[in-house]
Formats: sequence, structure tokens, C-alpha cells
Amino acid sequence: MRLQSVLLWIFCFSSVLAVKEYLFKNCDNSGFCHRNKHYANQIKSLGSAFVPHYAIDPSSVHLQESGQDFHIAGTIIKKVPNIPDLQVELPITVSLLEGNNVRVQIDESGRNQITVKNKYVNHRRYNETGQWAFASEELPYISKKDVKLDISSDKLSFTYGPAQEYTAELQFLPVKLTISYKDEPQVVVNDQNFLNLEHWRVRDANAEHLSDEQVDFDMFTDSFGDSKEDKLPLGPESIGLDFTFKNYKNLYGIPEHADSLNLKDTTGSNQPYRLFNVDIFEYETDSRLPMYGAIPLLLAVRPELSVGLFWINSADTFVDLDKNSDSGDSRTHWISENGVIDFMIIVDKTPAAINKNYGLITGYVQLPPLFSLGYHQCRWNYNDEKDVLEINSLMDKHRIPYDTIWLDIEYTDSKKYFTWQNDVFPDPEGMMKELDATGRNLVVIIDPHIKTGYPVSDQFRKQKICINDATNTSYLGHCWPGESVWIDTLNPNAQALWDSQFVWDKKNKFTGGLSTNLHIWNDMNEPSVFNGPETTSPRDNLHYGGWEHRSVHNIYGLSYHEATYNSLKKRQSHTTRERPFILTRSYYSGSQRTAAMWTGDNMSKWEYLQISLPMVLTSNIVGMPFAGADVGGFFGNPSKELLTRWYQAGIWYPFFRAHAHIDSRRREPWVAGEPYTSIMTDAVKLRYSLLPMLYTAFYESSVSGIPIMKPVFYEALDNLESYSIEDQFFVGNSGLLVKPVVEKEADDIEIYLPDSEVYYDFTNGNITGDITKFQLNKPGYVKRAVTLNDIPVFLKGGSIIAQKNRYRRSSKLMVNDPYTLIVAPDSNGNANGKLYIDDGESFGYTKGLSAKVSSIDVNYVGSLSSIEIEKIVIISQPQSQINKLIIHNPKLKVAADWSATFATDVEHDEL
Ligand SMILES: *[C@@H]1O[C@H](CO)[C@@H](O)[C@H](O)[C@H]1NC(C)=O
Ligand SMILES: *[C@@H]1O[C@H](CO)[C@@H](O)[C@H](O)[C@H]1NC(C)=O
Ligand SMILES: *[C@@H]1O[C@H](CO)[C@@H](O)[C@H](O)[C@H]1NC(C)=O
Ligand SMILES: *[C@@H]1O[C@H](CO)[C@@H](O)[C@H](O)[C@H]1NC(C)=O
Repeated sequence: MRLQSVLLWIFCFSSVLAVKEYLFKNCDNSGFCHRNKHYANQIKSLGSAFVPHYAIDPSSVHLQESGQDFHIAGTIIKKVPNIPDLQVELPITVSLLEGNNVRVQIDESGRNQITVKNKYVNHRRYNETGQWAFASEELPYISKKDVKLDISSDKLSFTYGPAQEYTAELQFLPVKLTISYKDEPQVVVNDQNFLNLEHWRVRDANAEHLSDEQVDFDMFTDSFGDSKEDKLPLGPESIGLDFTFKNYKNLYGIPEHADSLNLKDTTGSNQPYRLFNVDIFEYETDSRLPMYGAIPLLLAVRPELSVGLFWINSADTFVDLDKNSDSGDSRTHWISENGVIDFMIIVDKTPAAINKNYGLITGYVQLPPLFSLGYHQCRWNYNDEKDVLEINSLMDKHRIPYDTIWLDIEYTDSKKYFTWQNDVFPDPEGMMKELDATGRNLVVIIDPHIKTGYPVSDQFRKQKICINDATNTSYLGHCWPGESVWIDTLNPNAQALWDSQFVWDKKNKFTGGLSTNLHIWNDMNEPSVFNGPETTSPRDNLHYGGWEHRSVHNIYGLSYHEATYNSLKKRQSHTTRERPFILTRSYYSGSQRTAAMWTGDNMSKWEYLQISLPMVLTSNIVGMPFAGADVGGFFGNPSKELLTRWYQAGIWYPFFRAHAHIDSRRREPWVAGEPYTSIMTDAVKLRYSLLPMLYTAFYESSVSGIPIMKPVFYEALDNLESYSIEDQFFVGNSGLLVKPVVEKEADDIEIYLPDSEVYYDFTNGNITGDITKFQLNKPGYVKRAVTLNDIPVFLKGGSIIAQKNRYRRSSKLMVNDPYTLIVAPDSNGNANGKLYIDDGESFGYTKGLSAKVSSIDVNYVGSLSSIEIEKIVIISQPQSQINKLIIHNPKLKVAADWSATFATDVEHDEL
């Protein structure tokens, strides 16, 4: 949630400028972006008259081998024509990793020798972003024997890949890296000569370091609004580099922005896509402004091939996209405030393969506890124990399944985290027990700002694990509790102290004693600082190791939610409920390993329901699939129709939570009354009946990176028209194609069928009536009438999905329920599907048994082997007269030795 105090003071200033433009930097008024863009513009206008500043010294190039790994190392020399004395050495390393992945790192060696006046600040270039983003310290470098290497006096080249079909060629003067597939260039790095690394200099000597193409705007001061106090102790340190994607027009990724799925051209605007985690509120849709999280992964996709570019940097970053070139190429310019240059380029056949290869580096989504795929009920705030338990029983009264109730900041004593407001929450343990009785969970909020003047913050300050100010003493800022300090989770000593707050023992009231159904929500971890520049930490604040906040800004949120995850994981020695659930607002590449995300504080308006689809889709294609938006919208009061439509869309978000601002009226599904309550309830029940399918999609994503909410173009790469479809999607590999109604008073809807396969109308998941089939000769739209009841869903021919159709109060209570299988043959009469099963809460699956059974892939654990399939529904082939066949009680069990196969091409009279 977001501050009201800032809300108030913003309105005092906002007569001319829109709120966000006033609060947040753009490229023009951001020193490092302004300078790089100016440099790029000068180079463009000079054309071939520009003399490149950077060249690799051929004599420096050499092989570095350690164990199996090998790298090519060398030195880039920076020289500027108008400054004959200047010569800067920039070590460069080029490496190859599994997954057709080329990594390049460029540092600045001269920094090891300098001394700076401010003795607290680390003056090296920050090079540890990868240590937070990567899943392991051991990267999957490939060994030299798998690579053909060629070094000459003016270039070096590698040939690699399973069939040696990829080539990376590094030219020395000017520095240029070209990655080709079968000799056809795919990406050219420094194609436009925008490579720029602002080397070390002191203010007094700055003039001797500027080339004719450069301006010195805001190199040693920050003239933007409330950033003026930034002392910039290290002066200008920015990096810039361009990447041209040859013959690619469709670019995706680099969240978080409230923008389209297919990224927009940003030329001519002062608003490139910006990656800088901020607590933005009332954000506009159709905007390149930064938001709560950042994942610097860009995907370029065309029918035959895809490219992933991973820019490994955690400082403030702008990405300028030029999609207008006549050549059919997309040109991109990446600009970061500081740090080393470090990037990976992954080329492979499909975007799904890029997801898989990127996951080899940053990890895949953690398989979540099953309950966390259920319905989450939140609001700011459920006021007391009675309120919580009343909501709990009203869900039952209205027969609405749900798994988790949430408490926002007001549960604490004066916003002191790890405490309870005793008068209204006298017995958290009893409350958690009562929820647990029907398999339900509690999630409470714990933020990184810690109120000053109580034992927790006193201890943190004493142990020096807080973010420091520029004078190296605990930084004091303002957030929900008033004056606060911020835990520095980049400090390795922070984990033990964080763990000690989560100790599960009988005496710890915070954790409900030994309760095992408590999980955690990490909010405000951009970090949000109410009185800070751009509502976050001053950039010259200091973290562990003397690193300026400026260098680590975008990974702070990740370091924080990861610490929380680690603490929760440790509690579980006395239970099989081992998998923690953490929701985070701020995130970075790698966050998928330990947390789910949501899109922050949105508004109860139709356009926010609409933009939530491309936002969640984008999160899914950059490796962060456990994502959702607040159902109903956070601010304001949705109409009954909007709320209903939001539930019907929200059941498809991988993370499904209803939430509301403290000033919003109550809006649990029963508040609206009929017919809305029943319609919302049906939507939630549909989510629950599809949990086996959804859990399977999570499992598949956890081993391959495949999106759970999956863009249509993933299944129709040959069809360019599908590349911009963002209002409908597939659910994992299940074959379900969903187009939620997100328009007011809609009477009909047009669903895009991306290929000529048969699609079965599966609206509302309802197979009780006649099944309508659609099959087009070529991709196109089909129209369908809709009422407020309807959630348009199609099932693609060739799929089998598993459901559990009995109403239960929570997912846990469904564990022993039998399955119904729905078999939807393709045009040739074939269908297959997967079902993944485990206990839903332990880490047993990591060493679990699995059995391949016919076309159904079953991973089972102990007692689950007795679960039955109670019904198989076989939809008839398109050409058949008969609509469908239902086999009741087929006497099948889901078990390792289950050997039944069912033919999907049986004639109807055989059954
Ligand atoms: C800055 O403070 C931290 C503790 O917060 C300490 O570990 C570090 O040594 C200090 N730096 C210097 C240069 O004194
Ligand atoms: C970062 O740079 C320092 C100094 O060059 C080096 O010792 C260290 O190994 C580097 N760390 C990483 C993770 O590359
Ligand atoms: C959530 O709210 C923000 C505004 O605060 C908005 O930009 C964003 O699009 C919303 N997201 C969704 C999913 O509605
Ligand atoms: C399912 O379809 C049948 C027959 O078309 C209809 O009577 C029933 O109301 C539908 N149920 C839902 C939940 O849409």
C-alpha cells in the first residue's frame, strides 16, 4: 500500500505537472541518461566522421583457463581524439555458457589505484549484481573443447551450440560483437558506437576528460528536485551500450511498466523504459515510468529464432528502443548510472527456449505450496481477531473456497514489526489454529523499515546491520511507523538477526508459537522512503562493503525478500509444511526463486483491469511467473460489474488475491449481493476445480521456465498477427485459451484463434451442455455472445486436463478428491496432457518419485496413490456427430503402477 502523507503534499505542487513527472526523473533531467543520450545523438549526426573512442588492444587478448571453464580476456583502450594524453584501460572478459549464452564483462582497472576524499565509500565499480541474480555461484560455463575458437590480429570468433551453428565474432576496432546463427547476424553489440564508460576523474580536472561529443550535465551534482542533496562522491561513472537486433520487430520484457506486452518505440521521447524500483502510486497506464520491480531481460522474437538480452546491472537504468529503422531491425540503447558492463546474449529457436536458458542462470520459479495457488483474501485492514474469524466463516456460509487471509500493517503495535496490537489481537496462536482447522493460512506483512526506539531496531543498530547514510551511521528516514531504520540485507550478518525474529517457539507471540500456517508479505522494499528522493533511499547512502545505494538499488528488494524466505525455511524442522510463501512488491531477476509478486497499488478502474493482463504476461515471459494484480483494484470502489469481471479475470493470474485500500468500502464477494455474489463464487470455484491443471503448470515452469500465463504467440510463432495479442492467453501448456471480459457492459467478445486447430468452447469450464467447436482455415477471430456470467475459455484440440470438481473449503481439503479428466482430441483424433501430483507442502518433490503413465505424467507421493479418477469426459472429434462421451467411474487410480491408457480415437459405438 502507499503513503497518504505524500499524497497530501503532492497535491500542493501538482498544478502544472502530473504527479509522477514531478516526482520521478526522466532521461533529460537525469544526469547520466542525459549525457549518454547527448553522446549518442552527436555520434548519429557525425555519421562516418565520428572517430571511435574504444578499441581492443590485440596484444592483450589471451585465454584464461581454470578447471573446465575458459574465458577470453583482453583490454579495451579508451582514447579520445581531442585529449591526446588520455588513455584508459578497460579489462574485458568474454565467456560462453550453456544455453547458447555469451557473457561479456567490462570493468575499469584504474579504479584500484585511486583515493577518494570520502573514506567510507567503495570506489570500485560494483560487480556483484550477478551474485544476487544468479541461482548459483557456479555458472554453467562450457568447456573449451565444445567451442571452435579463432583469434587473429583484428578479431576473434567462437563457434558454438549443439550443432556449432552459432558464431560470436568480436571485432577489435571499433569494438563490435556480432552474434550469428548459420552465418546470419542476429545481434550486433555496439553497432552504433554508443559504447561509453565514464572513467574516473576529479571535478577540477574534468575538462581534460571530456570529448567533443560529450556534455558535462550533472556530473558532480544532481539538480533534480529533491535529489539535490546527493553528493555524488564518485562523480560521473555511467555506462552505455547499444544492441541492434537484426530483423527483429517484436520486443518484450524489461518490466515493470504499466504498458503493452509488445514494447513500444521510444525514440523522440524523454521517457525511455526506465528500470528503477520505486513506490509509484496512481501510476498511469500506457507509460514507461518505473515501477516497483525491475527485470533487465529483453526478448526479441521472430518466427525462426529468438534472442534474450540480460543486462546484469542493479543501478538506475534507461532503455531506449528504436523500432522504426527502414532495415527492419530494432535498435536499443542501454544506459545505467554506474557499475560494470555485464551482459548475456542468449540465442535459440523459440522464446520458450530463451526462458529455459535464462533459468539456467537465474533459476526457475520455486514450486509454491499448493495453498498459495488458492484464493487469497486481503484488505487494509482486517481489524481484529473477530473480524478475521468472521470473514473466515462468512466464506463458508457463502460456500466460497479460499485458502488464505491477510493482515496489512495495522495488526502490529504502532507499526513495530514482529509485534501484535495486543488489545485487538490477544491470541494470534488461537486465531491461526482456528484457520488451520479448515486448512487455511495467515499472511502478515513485514516491511524493511524498522521503527526507531524499540528492541528490534535497537539491536539492528547496535549490530550495525542497517543501511548507513553518507557519513556511515544508521540512516534515519520516514515510513509507516514514522522515523525508521532499514535493515541492510546485503550484509551477510543480517540473516542471523532476521532469523532470530522468526524463531518458532512456544513463547514467541509473533509467530503464533509453533504455528505452521503463517507466511509473510514483504511490501515497501524498493525501498520506499516517504521523505527520500523519488520516494526511495538517497543514492549516496551506504550498504555493506561501502557500496553506495546507487549501485545496488534494484537488488535491495530481492535481498530483502530472500532473507525472509531463508528465515521462514529454517522454521520448518518440526513440520512437513516446509515450503514458505513470500509475496514481494519489489523484485529483480532471480526473485522467482523465493517469492511471488503483485503489480502494486492499482486503481479500481477498467483500464487497470485491462493493463493487468499485459503486465502479468510480461512478468511471466521474464521468468517471474508467480504474479498477479490486486483483484478489484487497490484504490477506490469498483462498481459491482467491474468487481465481478475482475474476479473472472483474476482467477487466471498465477497469484490470485483480492485486496483493497483502507478507505475503500468492504467488497468481499458477498457484499455486492446477487447476482454478483454467485457469479464471483462460481469464478473462484472454477479456479479451484482447475487447481490440478494449474499446479501442473507451476511444476512445469519450475523445471523449464515456461510461462504459466502464456502469451498467445508462444503457440503460434509463425503467425505474426499473434505477436501483439495481449488480452487473451494460454494457461501453461494445458491448451486452455482464455479471454477474460474486461470491457464494461460487454454483450459479445471476439476471441482470436491463432491457428487452424480445432478449439472447443469451454466457457466457465462448463462441459455439462452441448460443446461448440470452432475451427478456422486460417487464424482469425470468432465471436461469442457473453453475459455477466461468462468467462470465455476455449480448450485447444489435442489437450487433456485434470479437474477436481467437488466444493471444499480450501485446497488442503481437496487432497483426497477424485479427478475428472477432460479429453479434447485434435483434428487427427489425438490428445495428451500432463498431471503433476505431490503433497503440496513439503520439499519431498525434489527427491520424489515419478512415473510416466500413458500420456499422463504422474509424480505421486505415498498416500496420494489411492486417488481415483471418477470420470473421463471425451469430447468427440470435430467430424463426429456425437458431442461427447462420459465414462463414469472408470475404476482408475492415479498411481505409479497405473497402466490404463485411453484411446482418444475410439469410435463412439465402441464405448
Ligand atoms: C562503516 O560502517 C560499517 C558498519 O555499519 C563498518 O563495518 C565499516 O567498517 C565502516 N566503514 C569505515 C570505513 O569505517
Ligand atoms: C569484482 O571485482 C573485484 C576486483 O576486481 C574482484 O576481486 C572480484 O572477484 C570481482 N567479483 C566478481 C563477482 O566478479
Ligand atoms: C495497479 O495499479 C497501478 C496504479 O497504482 C496501475 O498502474 C496498474 O496498471 C495497476 N495494475 C493492475 C493490474 O491493474
Ligand atoms: C453450463 O451449461 C448448461 C447447458 O448449456 C447450462 O444450463 C448451465 O447453466 C451452465 N452452467 C454454467 C455455470 O455456466
